[in-house]
Amino acid sequence: MSNNNRLRIAIQKSGRLSKDCQELLKQLGIKLNLREQRLIAHATNMPIDVLRVRDDDIPGLVMDGVCDLGIVGENVLEEAQAERARSGNKGSVKKLAKLDFGYCRLALAWPQELGKQDKSWFSGKRIATTYPEILSKYLEREDIDASVVMLTGSVEVAPRAGLADAICDLVSTGATLEANGLMQGDTILESNACLIQNEMLKDAGKLALIDKLMPRLRGVKQAKE
Ligand code: PRP
Ligand code: ZN
Ligand code: MG
Repeated sequence: MSNNNRLRIAIQKSGRLSKDCQELLKQLGIKLNLREQRLIAHATNMPIDVLRVRDDDIPGLVMDGVCDLGIVGENVLEEAQAERARSGNKGSVKKLAKLDFGYCRLALAWPQELGKQDKSWFSGKRIATTYPEILSKYLEREDIDASVVMLTGSVEVAPRAGLADAICDLVSTGATLEANGLMQGDTILESNACLIQNEMLKDAGKLALIDKLMPRLRGVKQAKE
C-alpha cells in the first residue's frame, strides 16, 4: 500500500476544503488518481501519497509524524494545538504557508428572537461548540463566566434542542445561521486553510521534495493575485 519513502500529505476527504485542496495539488503538478472511497491515493509522477481523512484528524496525524504534510483550517489547527498543550503532549508542527482558500470565522451566535446582546449576557449561559479550547480561552480573556458544551456536529441546532443557550461555530456564508434562526455576534477567530509540516521530519529526500514544491506553491498563489 504505502511506502515510507513517499511523502505523505493529509487532506480533508469531504467538506469545505476538499475541492480546493485537490485543485491545489493538481496546480502543484502532483498527478493523482483520486477515486472515491479510497483512503490513500498514490501520485503517479512523484513519490507522494495523499491521505484523505476527517479534517479534525489532520493536525494530530501531522504532529505524530503519521503524515509529513497536511492541509487544514487554522481553526482546526489552533484547537488541536491548544488541546495538546493542555495535556502536555505537544506535537511539533510548523505552518509552511497560509493558503488563499477556506476562509471562515469562528463566531458566537444566539437565537435571533433574543435580539442584540452584549458580552454580559453570556454570563451563566451554556455555549455549544466543536472548539472548546479556543472558546474557553476567549471566555477567560473576556472574563465571561459561561459554560462550554462540546458537540462534534450539528452545533447550530443546539439552542433549539435546548442543549445550550448560544453557540460558537464556523461561519462562512452565514447560510447555516440564517437557516437556524441565529444571530451572529463577536468573531473569536478568523481562519484560512494552511499547509503544515511535521517539524521533526528529517528524511532528506522528503525535505528536498518539499523544497521543490514550495516555490510552485508561491507561484500558484501569485498567479491568483
Ligand atoms: C461549518 C459550520 C457550519 C457551516 C457554516 O461546518 O459548522 O455548519 O460550516 O457555513 P455557512 O456559514 O456557509 O453556512 P464545516 O463545513 O466546517 O463542516 P464540519 O462542521 O463538518 O467540520
Ligand atoms: Zn470538521
Ligand atoms: Mg458544520
